[in-house]
Parts: sequence; C-alpha cells; structure tokens
Amino acid sequence: MGSMLQWRLCSLAVVLVSCFLAQEAVAQRPRYMDPRQPVEVRVNDLLSRMTLDEKIGQMTQIERGVASPSVIEKYKIGSILSGGGSEPSYRATPSQWMSMTNSFQWGAMQTRLKIPIIYGTDAVHGNNNVYGATIFPHNIGLGCTRDPNLVRRIGSATALEVRATGITYTFAPCIAVCRDPRWGRCYESYSEDPEVVRSMTTIIDGLQGQCPAGWRGPYLESNRKVLACAKHFVGDGGTWQGKDMGNAIMNYDTLVKTHMRAYPDAIAKGVSTIMVSYSSWNKQKMHANKFLLTDVLKGRLGFRGIVISDWQGIDRISDPWGANYINSVRQGINAGIDIVMVPFDYVKFINIVKGHVATGAIPIGRINDAVSRILRVKFQARLFEYPYADNSLRTYLGSLQHGALAREAVRKSLVLLKNGGGAKKKLLPLNKYASKILVVGAHANDIGLQCGGWTISWQGGRGATTKGTTILGGIRQVIGRNSEVVYQPNPSAGYAKGKGFEYAIVVVGEQPYAEVNGDNLNNLNMPAPYPALIKDTCSNVACVVVMISGRPLVVEPYLGYMNAFVAAWLPGSEGRGVAEVLFGNYEFSGRLSRTWFRRVDQLPMNVGDRYYNPLFPFGYGMKMGLKRA
Ligand code: GLC
Repeated sequence: MGSMLQWRLCSLAVVLVSCFLAQEAVAQRPRYMDPRQPVEVRVNDLLSRMTLDEKIGQMTQIERGVASPSVIEKYKIGSILSGGGSEPSYRATPSQWMSMTNSFQWGAMQTRLKIPIIYGTDAVHGNNNVYGATIFPHNIGLGCTRDPNLVRRIGSATALEVRATGITYTFAPCIAVCRDPRWGRCYESYSEDPEVVRSMTTIIDGLQGQCPAGWRGPYLESNRKVLACAKHFVGDGGTWQGKDMGNAIMNYDTLVKTHMRAYPDAIAKGVSTIMVSYSSWNKQKMHANKFLLTDVLKGRLGFRGIVISDWQGIDRISDPWGANYINSVRQGINAGIDIVMVPFDYVKFINIVKGHVATGAIPIGRINDAVSRILRVKFQARLFEYPYADNSLRTYLGSLQHGALAREAVRKSLVLLKNGGGAKKKLLPLNKYASKILVVGAHANDIGLQCGGWTISWQGGRGATTKGTTILGGIRQVIGRNSEVVYQPNPSAGYAKGKGFEYAIVVVGEQPYAEVNGDNLNNLNMPAPYPALIKDTCSNVACVVVMISGRPLVVEPYLGYMNAFVAAWLPGSEGRGVAEVLFGNYEFSGRLSRTWFRRVDQLPMNVGDRYYNPLFPFGYGMKMGLKRA
C-alpha cells in the first residue's frame, strides 16, 4: 500500500478524532457558554452556577483608577468605568485605551465563570473623553435641529468611536426634560418639550443598532455598537429652580407626562441600561424610590435591562452624603438598582451587601433579579463570544466622515434669532468677499470653549484641549482669498472705528461647566467682557453676534446694538459649520428647542405655560432667505 494512501488515511484519522474531541468539548462546555442557546437559557444556567460573591461582584462597578486585572479577578467585578476625563494616560491613543480595557477583560477571563466585564464612559457628544475624537454638538443644539435621523447617525458614529477605544458602554443619551435653564445640565437636555426629547431617542438606534419590531429587552446589534444608557430616571430636569440633584415638586401625572415621557420610547428601542437620577421627587431620593424604579420602570414600563446608580448615588441617599451608607445600600438595592456605580470603596460595598443578604435585609431574590438583568445584557451583547476589543476599529476615531457629520450637525443646530430690523440693516448672509472683516471675542478662537463641559475633562476647559476647527479657523477657510480677517479677542474701546471693516463677527458665550458647577440660580447674564464688547463693537460697525452657550442667557438689553444674532449653543470640534452658514453656503434651519426668556425672574417659563412672555418663543428660528434653494 503506497505511502500516499497511508498518509491520507492518517490525515483522515486525525480529522475524525479532532471532530470528535471538538464535539466532546462542545458537549462538555456549560450551556451558558453555548451561543446557540436562547439568552434566557444561558442566563438561568449561569445564574444557577454563581456563588453569592460572584453575584455581588457583577453588581459592582468601579472606577478605572482603582481597577486592575487582579482586583477584577479577586472580587469578580462585573463593570468598570471612566469618570469624566479619566483616561489611561495623557491624550491616550485608541491603542492605549484598548490595551487598558483588554487588560481588565483579561482579569475577568481568569475568573471561574469567565463572565466578561462591561466598560462604561460618558460619551455624551462623541467619545469626548478621548483626545482627537469627533466632538458633536451638545444635546441642546441637537434638539434645535429637529432631525431624528441626523441624531441616529450621530449615535452610529459615536458607537464606532467608542468601540475604537475598546469601550463597550456609554452613559448616554441624557433624556432629561430641562424645564429651567438655571440647571447646570440644561445643555445635556434636548429640549424643554418632552415630544422633542422623545423624537431624539433615535440616538439609541444609532448607538446600539435598530432592534427588530416587537423586540423586548436590551438589544445590541454587533461589536460596532455600544450599550446605551437612558438617564437620569426620573425628573432630573424638573427640580425646583433648576437646582442640580435637587427636588422635583410635582404630582405623578406631571412627572409621567413631562419627565418620564421618553422612557417608553427608549425601552421600546431596546435601551440596555437606565441610570437613576440623583434628584428627589417630592423629597424622596430617586435612588431609594422602589415605587418608581421597580413598580413603574420594571413593572408598568416593562424594562428588562439594567438599572444602574449614578456616581456615588447610593452614598447620596442620606443627608449628609454617606451618613448612613449601610442603610443606604439596602435601600438602593431593594428599590431596584442592579449595578451600583460605587465607584471607589468597592470592598466596603461588597461586604455590606453580603451582610444584608445574610440577614435577609436584601432578599436573595432581589440579587438574582439584578444579576439576571446584568447577564441578559452581557449575553445579548455577545461579550462572552467577543470579550476583547476589535483593533481594526481604532481608525474610526476622529474620522473625516464623522467630522463631516459633525459639521452638518453644527449647521443644523444654529438658530437665527435676528437679522436686521429696527435701525439695523439685514447683515446675513455675510459677504465672503468683503475686503476687511473683524472678528472679536475669545469664544471665536477656542476649541475648549466651543465644546463646553464633558470634553477631555469632566468640566471641560479653555484652549486647544483637543483637535478641531475653531469658529475663526472656519471663517478663514470659508471667506474669499482676498479678504483680510483681523482677530482681536478683547479689543480696547473704539477699536472697530475707522479701520475700514465691512462688518464684525462678535463671538461671545459661557465658560465651560458640568453638573452642579453650571447651576446659576441667581442670574444668567453674559459674562464680562461680552456685554461691553457687543455695545462697543456693534456701535462702530455692522455686527453679527454668535453666542456659544449651554442655554439661553440674558441678551435683551444688547439686542438693539446687533444687526444679527445667532445661537450656536455648544457646537463641538467642528467650528467651520458655523462659518458655512454665516456666509450663506447653507441656510439656517434650526428652531429653538427651548424658550429664550427675557429676565431670570420669569423662570421657570416653558412653552404652554399660562404666563408666557419670552424674548424668543420655543420653536422660533429665522431664515436668511438665500436666493438659491
Ligand atoms: C455623573 C453624572 C452622570 C454620569 C456619571 C458617570 O455624576 O451624573 O450623568 O454618567 O456620573 O460619570
């Protein structure tokens, strides 16, 4: 018998034995590891195998600064997060981010049951923690676009840029309905109108993928998508005087119709997680509100994903914060919280939960419900099959296509509030072939200022904090080659006079802020030197004022000086989008997503209120009347 035949027979034998062994391996592996099994079968099989320590570990989310593969392995930690601005190293690259998330995942893979972690970040207007990521307009501007399809596309782009850094989960979208612009987080809200906020939940389709009709439960389409988080449940935008983490005083009907309105849409879209609000409803902390978190959210609304606490949200159940942490842990978990964003003192948290389970203060049934929800999300996200980052996605961070999408979003978010009128002639569209143009205001030439909070750092910051094009840079790109642009951040009085400027572009606005640091309970004035700068510049030359802000500010006293006034909100990294509209490459299409008040003593004042006397009403927005279509 030839050696060829012998070789072939040996090869065949090897193949047959390999197939047998492979089948044996499949037959031996636990059912929860079998992707062919239905998700609920996998959930129940895995849950039945877990120890109490493993279950509590899944309910524990810790900050990356205290995490390591060994900590994850030892405490069976199920989730890690980056707090605002928390990165593996200064201006970390996608590869460095992936190296970090993969190292944490490796730690999880060393545990007995190999349950993968999820890694969360606040990618609330792009993957904004990461240097070089595309920074999209904040939600207040997106609400002015009234373009759900655009917002869905932004979600898709954001998902790719988040996955480009090996991250699987974003704490977005914020579907707060901000009813008072004194709230420091009003720019995170799409609108004062719950119907506009509802329409913007299409971002979940972009972030997670569009779930099939009739789908029930958390959804994730592929490893090019990320788990989303509708937040903050519920009433975060309705607190008294807009106080962050304050008290929402209203009856249940108003809470449901105004502040809960968008949650059924988010749930129907398969949102994987919902974050609890720090705020209180009629003086009861949301983090301890079993009626709303369990009876309403999980019961009536049928939410089958993960309810996650906010950062130290459990600690803040008691006043002063942390005063009775042991009792707060019991209250929060029994109220229906499934994952606790601890985020630092995880050993203490884990031991307290174990103690409460031992005494029956936290029923094991509550633990099993929480862990079942966590596992359901992780199985649906196919993290057991694909636990590690896909290195091929790293090139999506800051891609040219995403930059173009962001410019489109900037253009559509701009709202034209004045263009001529009274003694002032119409000025927009600006003449891009003007011989001499003056640009003033620090906000014209500052990426950090035009991005606002939640950009690179938690609070945001001034200067070249990340890549992008300033508004001034955009102006220079759009105008004619023979036009001269003179830029003065804060010129002396009378500077604009007699220098032959055809017009001035005055870019004013707020300093960056996030959360409680943005609360402005007393006044919403434009910060100095802008009121004086507007008066002086616009008294000496025709001017358009562009406002970079997270909310409407007091502007009525200065409107008469302006030929034109544009609300640009917090446009993000693509400042060219502002110039493209100012110079008439595109028409204005934005409409106010929130009422522009006259004076702070009118607040709160929202569309539909009996007393409604705004400077510019909700839905207002002019066009320049461009000749071409
Ligand atoms: C913050 C915010 C929340 C954010 C979380 C994690 O305090 O309230 O919106 O997702 O902590 O950064």
